[in-house]
Amino acid sequence: MKVTVSRKAHFNAAHRLYRKDWDDEKNDAVFGKCNNPNFHGHNYELIVSVTGEIDPETGYVIDMKVLKDLIKSEIENAFDHKNLNVEVPEFKNLNPTAENIVVVIFNKLRPHLSNHLGLEVTLYETPRNFVSYSDA
Ligand code: NI
Repeated sequence: MKVTVSRKAHFNAAHRLYRKDWDDEKNDAVFGKCNNPNFHGHNYELIVSVTGEIDPETGYVIDMKVLKDLIKSEIENAFDHKNLNVEVPEFKNLNPTAENIVVVIFNKLRPHLSNHLGLEVTLYETPRNFVSYSDA
């Protein structure tokens, strides 16, 4: 019997979508307003879901406090109020699309969770646009 527990979090961050190896015309054609050289911001909402067996001793799949602290230390402290392109090393050479951000978040959290737990990360870039990545 597997149960999924989820924790919501959020961070505000700025980004610009573009490729250094494309000229302005091609970047504009592909990324439109998201290629604004002065960057733009989003209120990112995050849902981190952990799936596993209930520990018979604690009754937990994972201690929510542990999950909360992990998201705070690994994601919020690294991304909140940051310019993703400029200040977050993972995006130095990686376009900070929602797709790439969700994979980076997953890869930052995954090593801190036991192998027998499944992980799914859902990232909302806007209330209507969201992406998910999981091994659950
Ligand atoms: Ni954007």
